[in-house]
Amino acid sequence: MDNGRTIITPSSRTELVQEYYFSQKLRQIDEMRKSGLDIINLGIGSPDLPPAPAVAEKLGEAAKLPNVHGYQSYNGIPALRKAFADWYEKYFHVTLNPDNEILPLIGSKEGIMHISMAFVNEGDKVLVPNPGYPTYTSVSKLTGGEVRFYDLNEKQNWHPDLHELENSDLSKVKIMWVNYPHMPTGARGNKKLFENLVAFAHRHTILMVNDNPYSFILNKDHLSLLSVDGAKEVALELNSMSKSHNMAGWRIGMVAGHAEYIRSIVKVKSNMDSGMFQPMQLAAVEALKSPDEWYDSINETYGHRRKLVEQIMIKLQCTFDPNQTGLFVWGKIPAKYSIAEELTEEILHKAHVFITPGMVFGDQGNEYIRISLCANEQMLGKALKRLAGIGDF
Ligand SMILES: Cc1ncc(COP(=O)(O)O)c(C=O)c1O
Repeated sequence: MDNGRTIITPSSRTELVQEYYFSQKLRQIDEMRKSGLDIINLGIGSPDLPPAPAVAEKLGEAAKLPNVHGYQSYNGIPALRKAFADWYEKYFHVTLNPDNEILPLIGSKEGIMHISMAFVNEGDKVLVPNPGYPTYTSVSKLTGGEVRFYDLNEKQNWHPDLHELENSDLSKVKIMWVNYPHMPTGARGNKKLFENLVAFAHRHTILMVNDNPYSFILNKDHLSLLSVDGAKEVALELNSMSKSHNMAGWRIGMVAGHAEYIRSIVKVKSNMDSGMFQPMQLAAVEALKSPDEWYDSINETYGHRRKLVEQIMIKLQCTFDPNQTGLFVWGKIPAKYSIAEELTEEILHKAHVFITPGMVFGDQGNEYIRISLCANEQMLGKALKRLAGIGDF
């Protein structure tokens, strides 16, 4: 029971950030469910499918060993770094030295914090995509950075306008966050864009960080920022097993780049956690060895789901790019709504279906919604039926 008032004030840092939109919304959904409503959640990108069978087998087997329960190295076990290096070589055609150019992380989200802690000084500017993953903004603020949004828009295929940026004062910019394949829009990167980003980073001495967790979902063209010549001097890349291997709850990701940059990140990270449970790391090695057919089978499932989500978009009179990639479908709302939340609230209350309004990712997303592919076909079919049942939008 919560009795009495608290007398200790939180740090002023906590005032720089707000509770994550999804954390508040999930609480509301929970309340609605407790009141007896059957809510279909198409908001969150947490894969509902399991990892490859060898992964859980390895975890179980390894967990039974007597000598795996102690603290682990801050840099991850060598086998995991090697497995990430092999995965990057095979799929991204990027050669990384597993000894010092790869650092396993407890999910890539924490990497955003570690990179910022390692590179942002008080008052440094940080370029953050709008729309984009909200954590870039909150972490930049928490680490003393000043957020400067750069707008992405549909006309430019959600790619940054580097000329426009170059016409502004970039002298205090320390980091630029990019994320291709892009969440929430599903836009792809390409080699030319990545070359331009690396050249831009060199010209302005900016650390360019590509957050790359979606490249295995409905996308055959695996592309790493680190594949560009000269990238390692100015760029880092985050990757994750959350979406690519259906292991979101396991919390396993990585950051790759120049050994010097990795060393600076380890300085921070080794003061924050003490490594990951060894059986999980061994199981992650198995996941990274998954055959092409495993990735194909997951994508086949997502392909079927995407067709249903596209039907939902059509039902809602939203327009969308059929070539987008990733774990979501991003669609533009009909003109009669001034902001996506009007539509998503109507859907939540009339059809009991939760869909993410694009404003969560910045005001460039105000006229868009994002629907997750992390629900099975039966659930998506049910959502479609309910939406059809409430008439025109
Ligand atoms: C763009 C982006 N980056 C990073 C993450 C976090 O991934 P992880 O589970 O590896 O922390 C997400 C998760 O939704 C994401 O959408």
